[in-house]
Amino acid sequence: MQELTPRQIVVELDKYIIGQHKAKKSVAIALRNRWRRLQVPEELREEIMPNNIIMIGPTGVGKTEIARRLARLTNAPFVKVEASKFTEVGYVGRDVDSIIRDLVDISVNIVKNEKTQAVQEKAQEMAEERLLDLLLPARKSRSSNPSEELAKTEPDLGPSKQEEDTYKETREKIRGLLRKGKFEARQVEIDVPKDSFPMMQVISPMGVEDMGMNLQEIFGGMMPKKYKKRRMSVEEARRLLEQEEAQKLIDIDEVVREAIDRAENSGIVFLDEIDKIAGEHSKVGPDVSREGVQRDLLPVVEGTNVVTKYGMVKTDHVLFIASGAFHHSKPSDLIPELQGRFPIRVELQSLTNEDFERILTEPENALTKQYAALLKTEGVKLAFKPSGIKEIARYSTEVNDRTENIGARRLHTIMTTLLEDVLFKVPDEREEKVEVTAEVVQTTLEDIVKDQDLSRYIL
Ligand SMILES: Nc1ncnc2c1ncn2[C@@H]1O[C@H](COP(=O)(O)OP(=O)(O)OP(=O)(O)O)[C@@H](O)[C@H]1O
Ligand SMILES: [Mg+2]
Repeated sequence: MQELTPRQIVVELDKYIIGQHKAKKSVAIALRNRWRRLQVPEELREEIMPNNIIMIGPTGVGKTEIARRLARLTNAPFVKVEASKFTEVGYVGRDVDSIIRDLVDISVNIVKNEKTQAVQEKAQEMAEERLLDLLLPARKSRSSNPSEELAKTEPDLGPSKQEEDTYKETREKIRGLLRKGKFEARQVEIDVPKDSFPMMQVISPMGVEDMGMNLQEIFGGMMPKKYKKRRMSVEEARRLLEQEEAQKLIDIDEVVREAIDRAENSGIVFLDEIDKIAGEHSKVGPDVSREGVQRDLLPVVEGTNVVTKYGMVKTDHVLFIASGAFHHSKPSDLIPELQGRFPIRVELQSLTNEDFERILTEPENALTKQYAALLKTEGVKLAFKPSGIKEIARYSTEVNDRTENIGARRLHTIMTTLLEDVLFKVPDEREEKVEVTAEVVQTTLEDIVKDQDLSRYIL
């Protein structure tokens, strides 16, 4: 990711999200600025604060989608949370620090995966040796039994040179066969760690994870690891052994250090539905004030130290992207301190009829492509004529205008209704080709769209 320029980031986002150029531009700049900051001399680096963003826009126009795609683009640890999930300190619910703990968990996983990839080849080699040990146990020295050794007078000479050579030769032969996949189904017995503390899961109360430490890990670490023998196929054993060897090869302290560093300096938190905690007088749940949640969030956004099971994590440079529809409240209803921490505001536009047409066809994951792929598995060629696309878009706009505007989500409901018959019919009834034209769309949807009540329920 670090190499993507703002323009390239926008190009990547364009592959999935239609329009919303301003929002894409803002997130692209914010993302690139994190990389820029890391190149700045150290004294100044601490001073440069992230460009936290609030995305404002009606429902279903791509706010969450932009954040989701952004996360896939970057290697940066990323969490998405709904602001409305949090409650004031002292109330049951998730506390805001859990955001950062989740972020670090994700970061640790990312770094661990990267490191595992890096040692994979070596781990594979070592796992192969261990498989060979299992398939062809080394010829033990004749004195493997201690009591026998005591009884013996002459010194033990171990296997003879000749025996050793034959052993090596056989081992290489087996290695060849193993690599050809001749032993995949053969059963072997290996030691697997026992679940260290199965009881804990039953008695641990909800929310233990929120304490930032995992009892299982604490107690599990205190007890000696127990192993039990299990029989399994060579294929399965190889997977387990590779994992085990990879674990041995990576330095977990280094993983944690790097993960914390990454969470602190490139972590991104997406705070969805921030509008739901704006407006001070209304309440979220019984006696939990929205302003209280904002006050709790403030230090995390402003920069504080959060205790996690991996150690302290500084949140000063974590990038926060907030988003909300702000139908019933405005960003100015947020407490001033929090507003100040989100200096960048971008508005997303309502989607037009033309946008719908493009959303239906252009993105790499466009709905028309998804359904065509689904039906292809049944041997049906699903084709959308431009006139059909226009008609779907038109109906979507119409239903959005007449009932509730749910943005591009409407396309999903329209499409499922439109294609329901075909999806049900095949493969019991043979169809080779289904063509969606304007007429097809009209005959299938006209009655439902015209009837307000019906469309409210179905579309
Ligand atoms: N501009 C767009 N381009 C392509 N697809 C879009 C666009 N906007 C929305 N979609 C599609 O519509 C669906 C809903 O969009 P999204 O989750 O981003 O809504 P949102 O803006 O976060 O709404 P809410 O405020 O309700 O959370 C997604 O499946 C997404 O693929
Ligand atoms: Mg959303």
